[in-house]
Amino acid sequence: MLKFAALLSAASLIPAFVQAAAPLYGQCGGQGWTGDTTCVSGATCVFSNQWYSQCLPSNQQPQPSTATTVAPTTAAPTNVPAPTTAPDAGNPFNGYTIYLSPYYADEVTAAAAAISDATQKAKALRVKDIPTFIWFDVIAKTPQLGVYLADADAKAKASGEKYLVQIVVYDLPDRDCAAAASNGEFSIANNGMNNYRRYIDQLVAEIKKYPDVRIVAVIEPDSLANLVTNLNVAKCSGAQDAYKQGTTYAIQQLNAVGVYMYLDAGHAGWLGWPANLNPAAQLFSDLYRAAGSPQFVRGLATNVANYNALNAASPDPVTQGNPNYDEMHFINQLAPQLTSGGFPAHFIVDQGRSGVQGLRQAWGDWCNVYGAGFGTRPTLNTGSSLIDAIVWIKPGGECDGTSNTSAARYDTHCGIASAHKPAPEAGTWFQAYFENLVKNANPPL
Ligand code: BGC
Repeated sequence: MLKFAALLSAASLIPAFVQAAAPLYGQCGGQGWTGDTTCVSGATCVFSNQWYSQCLPSNQQPQPSTATTVAPTTAAPTNVPAPTTAPDAGNPFNGYTIYLSPYYADEVTAAAAAISDATQKAKALRVKDIPTFIWFDVIAKTPQLGVYLADADAKAKASGEKYLVQIVVYDLPDRDCAAAASNGEFSIANNGMNNYRRYIDQLVAEIKKYPDVRIVAVIEPDSLANLVTNLNVAKCSGAQDAYKQGTTYAIQQLNAVGVYMYLDAGHAGWLGWPANLNPAAQLFSDLYRAAGSPQFVRGLATNVANYNALNAASPDPVTQGNPNYDEMHFINQLAPQLTSGGFPAHFIVDQGRSGVQGLRQAWGDWCNVYGAGFGTRPTLNTGSSLIDAIVWIKPGGECDGTSNTSAARYDTHCGIASAHKPAPEAGTWFQAYFENLVKNANPPL
């Protein structure tokens, strides 16, 4: 007691309150955060989104440090710009070198440095040479696209190779309408559509500066799939018009600057149920036609950030009841229905975290599935003329959602038995999860 009193009086002599620092990868800010806002030495507190800032290694790629306030009321465009060139016929990945995300490479390098086992460390480091998509999940990140495109352009010119940058467009207002973990920064009620158009315009402005770099974009994970099956959720029915308008705006504007696009189409355990195939094909086809059939829309992306196999050796028990128990079955069933609706039936499939099957207790488990391993490496040898490429879209090691039950974006899927815990906020680095992906990689790293 006396000691405590002595400490108190000593502390009162110190002018500013000295806080303990948050650990590497710990939370250091965000809406409602009352803990430490400084980081241990060697780490910097990096803004991720309005809910979360995280202590990342100081040598990491700098992130925009504040959320951008968006100017109101950009009027909806009345005419749709046309592209200056026609898309190349065939697979847009053919003949291109895929740009490696420096942001992900930095995350992986820092993660490997924290692994003491030499074999695992060496395996972890190999991951930074595997291309992943770069997510633009907040408007503050859009200037970064110009930095990556400039870098890719310089690398292309120095090497004589043609470069392709893979991005994810992910900022619709009222995002993630049937879940909570990835709720976005824009709300429909608060100028969300104008903000979204501004977000797309900012991406387009960067893209225009680098006409020699090819871009492949995945458009808005989960959004249209939610409109197929989740209109019973109030936030989804309320977002229906905004999702359609926003997607239409995105594909028209990105078409005008020659971005090859794949719209997100959920996965086998979602739109792959026989009753969902036709409504899904209908929605994609109708939206595409109404947007003027933008030529650079190449097809659909499946299994984004999910865990399904492309070709399951045998059906995972959780898939029972669905004959389309893997992505190949799903794609083979969906393709003819798209074709008859006039939608281009080409696909890319995320296999980044699909290396281990049989882990889930229910097929709907999507959050940080425990025991997952890195999957098939990106390749154009897909085994199907419908599939342009096997890709890694979710950067493995970035979290699907927090397991902190008091967080604003807590989703129960991130707290269930098959989810790896404790987990930080969606999109931030999850070291323990990454280490498991490395250990369980199939094929091995
Ligand atoms: C998160 C995004 C993140 C993306 C890639 C999503 O689940 O909501 O913030 O950029 O994953 O890790």
